[in-house]
Amino acid sequence: MSCQKIGIVGSGLIGRAWAMLFAAAGYRVQLYDILETQVDGALLEIQKELHSLKAKGALRGQLSPEAQFELISGCTDLKQLVENALHIQECIPELLQLKRDLYAQLDEVLESQTVVASSTSTFMPSLYTEGLKQRSQMLVAHPLNPPYFIPLVELVPAPWTNKETVESTRQLMLALGQRPVVLNREVQGFATNRIQYAILNEVWRLVGGGIISVEDVDRVLSDGLGLRYALLGSLETAHLNAPGGVADYFQRFGGEIAAVSASYGPTPDMRNEGETLAEIASQCEELVPLEALQQRRATRDEFLTRLSTLKRQLP
Ligand code: NAI
Repeated sequence: MSCQKIGIVGSGLIGRAWAMLFAAAGYRVQLYDILETQVDGALLEIQKELHSLKAKGALRGQLSPEAQFELISGCTDLKQLVENALHIQECIPELLQLKRDLYAQLDEVLESQTVVASSTSTFMPSLYTEGLKQRSQMLVAHPLNPPYFIPLVELVPAPWTNKETVESTRQLMLALGQRPVVLNREVQGFATNRIQYAILNEVWRLVGGGIISVEDVDRVLSDGLGLRYALLGSLETAHLNAPGGVADYFQRFGGEIAAVSASYGPTPDMRNEGETLAEIASQCEELVPLEALQQRRATRDEFLTRLSTLKRQLP
């Protein structure tokens, strides 16, 4: 059990989740925000959440909710936050200029042992670390929401990120019980969103083309492919689905895959396809009315908790 210090910059949804993950693994966490009231609110929220997770049997780590909460404190000064920190997890809003300003500030106060990882879902690390003195200590560690229940973290280096920075962040994520994946170089959308958007594009075309309903196309994932994908990725799935493994699979089915793929049609610009957007929104809202979204999110989190508990029992 470690007692090294972690700094979290930005105490919104994702910052709070990281604080809980680090505390569950025994790290000392300081939470910083540009708005002091946000930190106070975040601490109250975290305290409540830790007790509620305990009551549901979903609390991570060996420590009691009280002991985990004791490891987390607020901080109102960026310089103080980085002092003696092993790792800084940046969780400020997804606005490039905001990130650039913050990283320039961090660059002035960062110590040589400290890694800075961004939670950004979209910005490649070179976009806001180029030109900084300490840029070799900076990378992306992108979680999926809710990080407490979804273990994947994408580690994305900039061209100048040290190999040691990537490796020590990977080890840190493993120590939290997360499942890091490493991209060898940065690419727009990282891996998760590139795959997620490929799915969204095709779902959009299928519903927009009147081929299938929202309910049924989502069922293709939730009652079909997703069940497999909760256990195996698409390549291992292919490997298991042909007598001679993956090479045999692509020899057999590669022609069909290419033919279907050639029929996909152009990439939709979802902002400018009003008719399809209205249709998808209307069907989604019929399934889950806007006033029921909060309840549905809670159900999702409960199921994810149970699924991740089950997954942890598998080898
Ligand atoms: P949020 O809006 O809930 O929280 C952002 C916090 O940062 C706020 O408390 C705000 O006061 C604070 N802040 C703003 N400027 C600051 C500054 N200069 N210094 C310190 N604090 C500052 O945002 P959220 O959803 O937590 O997102 C944070 C990051 O995590 C974003 O980069 C986002 O792309 C990424 N992310 C978000 C996911 C989500 O589902 N919300 C999932 C995965 C990643």
